[in-house]
Amino acid sequence: MAILCTDSDESISLLSQLLLKGEIVAVPTETVYGLAAHAYDPSACAKVFAAKQRPAFDPLIVHLPLGFPLSEIAEENGLSRLLAHAFWPGPLTLVLKKNPRIPDIVTAGLDSVAVRIPRHPVFQKLLQACQAPLAAPSANPFGYVSPTTSHHVQTSLGDRIPYILDGGPCEIGLESTILDIRNPAVPVLLRPGAITREDIVAVLGFEVALPPATSLEVMPGQLSKHYSPHSSCRLVKTIAPHEPQAAPTTAFLFYQKPLLPQPTPSNVFWLSQQGSDVEAAQHLFRVLRRIDNDRFPILVAEMAPPHGLGLAINDRLQRAAAKD
Ligand code: TXA
Ligand code: MG
Repeated sequence: MAILCTDSDESISLLSQLLLKGEIVAVPTETVYGLAAHAYDPSACAKVFAAKQRPAFDPLIVHLPLGFPLSEIAEENGLSRLLAHAFWPGPLTLVLKKNPRIPDIVTAGLDSVAVRIPRHPVFQKLLQACQAPLAAPSANPFGYVSPTTSHHVQTSLGDRIPYILDGGPCEIGLESTILDIRNPAVPVLLRPGAITREDIVAVLGFEVALPPATSLEVMPGQLSKHYSPHSSCRLVKTIAPHEPQAAPTTAFLFYQKPLLPQPTPSNVFWLSQQGSDVEAAQHLFRVLRRIDNDRFPILVAEMAPPHGLGLAINDRLQRAAAKD
C-alpha cells in the first residue's frame, strides 16, 4: 500500500525533497490524479513508466509551477504566450518544440514536449516547493480509466508506488485538453477536454484543426482503445426506460438520471442528476470504475449531447467502447 499524505507543510516539504531525489509521487490535479517524477531526472521518469507499465513510446506531460519560465523546457511562440495568458493555470496542455534540457524518456524521443501549468492548489503547493518541472501521466495502469480520487490511485497502483498526495476528488474529472501549436498557423486539437475548441477559437480568433483520423492510430496515447473497463461497452443515443429491467445483468449508464421505480435497480447508473455536462464529466471515470467493480459483463452507455464538454465525454466513452 502507498502512504497517503496530506497537504500539510511538513508533508509537502518531505514529498518535494523525495521528488528532487528521484522518488515518484501520485499527485492531485484539477483534471485527474497524476504520477509525478522530476522531469529532468531520466531514472525517476523510468520509474513512472515501470509503475504504470506504460510503453516507452507514449510521452509524458510536463507540469510547471506557476511563474516557472516556459522557455526553460520548450520553445515559446506567439500562440503559447496568448494561450498561457488565457488558460494557465488550468487544464490546457500545449505541445511545443522541446528544449534539450528535457530528457528523451519524457518525450518518447519526439522533438516536441507537452506542457501545462495545473491549477490544483495542493499540486501547485508541491510544485512551488520543488521549483522544478514534474513529468506526470495519469496515475492509472496503462490503458485503464484515469483516477479522480486518491482511493482510485490506491486501489489500482497502491502496491507499485510509495506515496500518494491527497487533494480530494478532482474538480474536472477528465484529462486536460491537448493542443499542438508547434506550427502557430495551424493549431491541432489532439485531445478534447474541459477547455473546449470554442474556448480556444474565441481566444485565437481563428479555427483549430482536428488531427487526421489516421494519425490517431500512431499517435502515442491517443490509441483508440483507452480508458478500458473490463465490461464490453456499447454506445447508444438514448436508452429506453424499460431496457434495464429487461436485461438485469447488463449495466445501463444514462447521461441524466432517469425517472425510475424505487428502489433504483442495481444495473442503472447515471452521469448527472440534472443533465449538467460539468457534473457528468466529474462522474464519468468514477462511474466506469464502479460498473467494472460490480463485474457487469456488458455496459450500454448513452452519449452526451455533442457540444462543449460533451465532446470530451464522448471521446472518452468512445475509447472505452473501442475494440482494439
Ligand atoms: O490532465 C492531464 O493531462 C493529466 C494530468 C495528470 O495532468 N495527464 C494525463 O497524462 O492525462 P497522460 O499521460 O495520461 O496523457 C498524456 C497525453 C498522451 O496521450 C500523450 O500521447 C500526449 O499527452 N503527449 C505527451 N507528449 C506529447 C507530445 N510531445 N506530442 C503529442 N502528444 C503528447
Ligand atoms: Mg492517461
